[in-house]
Amino acid sequence: MTPRAEIRQRLDDREIAEVLGVVEAATEADGVRPLNEHVMLHMRYGGDVRARSVLLREGPRLAGYAHVDPTDEVEGPSGELVIHPDFRRRGYGKALLRAVLDLTGGRLRLWAHGGSPGAEALARSMGFERVRSLWQMRRSLFAPLAAPSWPDGVRLRTFVPGQDEEAWLKVNAAAFANHPEQGAWTLEDLRRREAEPWFDPAGFFLAFRDSRLVGFHWTKIHGSSEHGHEPIGEVYVVGIDPSQQGTGLGKALTLAGLRHLRSRGLAQAMLYVDEANQAAIRLYESLGFSRWDVDVMYATPGVRRVSPGHSTSQ
Ligand SMILES: CC(C)(COP(=O)(O)OP(=O)(O)OC[C@H]1O[C@@H](n2cnc3c(N)ncnc32)[C@H](O)[C@@H]1OP(=O)(O)O)[C@@H](O)C(=O)NCCC(=O)NCCS
Repeated sequence: MTPRAEIRQRLDDREIAEVLGVVEAATEADGVRPLNEHVMLHMRYGGDVRARSVLLREGPRLAGYAHVDPTDEVEGPSGELVIHPDFRRRGYGKALLRAVLDLTGGRLRLWAHGGSPGAEALARSMGFERVRSLWQMRRSLFAPLAAPSWPDGVRLRTFVPGQDEEAWLKVNAAAFANHPEQGAWTLEDLRRREAEPWFDPAGFFLAFRDSRLVGFHWTKIHGSSEHGHEPIGEVYVVGIDPSQQGTGLGKALTLAGLRHLRSRGLAQAMLYVDEANQAAIRLYESLGFSRWDVDVMYATPGVRRVSPGHSTSQ
């Protein structure tokens, strides 16, 4: 049977129940939820009007579901998809992905959770490249949080929009010289984030030595308590100038940001870190974080930009 793709801006209650059925069956079969929290919330409560749902049907039955988010103008469209376990290995994953690519004009960043062989096979069979593998780590903010211990001569203050951009871009480029996606941020990339509703300079910490910027910790707060959804704090990006690496500055800045997130009443903090970045993983483990999930990003050739604290808007 040939499956049929239906595109929706909003799902009605019956469709939401069908999608939740597919998500539940896949979670049971795979041991990991196929869609991130943001997608689940969007489906239930709505979100950006530009986002689309793709329903893949075989006859009346829902065989698969995809969420397409075209809103990130910096990094390009992104999506997530799932095929019901009863309908796998019949080419439906490919059919659904084709329908998604039709919507996005052939460009896509595709997120897969848990690193499954099926996702890898599907992505590769459609010409996608594995761009990176990100660990999501979490820790409770109720557990003890040490006071930061600052290297001598370091002073802390928060980011001032309109004043600190150039200095920040320089340190960011130096700190992420080996991570081109983050290191190559331009003034425009930064200003776009500053214009986002979640941007809050009070959670964007800068460390100076002799009035020279030497490191930063940019935090972000996700979600809200609306809809009964617990907000969560994120260690969005931590960057230390290479001349100051190994001095304990990264640890102190991370702690300062975590204490800020706790002072906002948040119960949990999360962060994304590249699986290859063992130094950072060790630092975060020493600060009480542990692995929560693995997200693998595949992309069509030519779509390679992502930030390390990837803003999947989760
Ligand atoms: C990943 C997923 C969508 C694949 O759906 P599917 O309908 O079974 O995939 P298809 O039948 O279209 O297969 C596409 C290709 O992947 C291969 N493939 C799919 N699952 C596979 C598996 N478990 N092991 C090896 N190869 C697999 C197929 O043989 C096919 O290869 P081909 O083009 O060389 O013939 C499905 O397993 C799923 O929903 N997983 C959980 C959610 C998820 O991981 N989403 C992220 C998708 S990137």
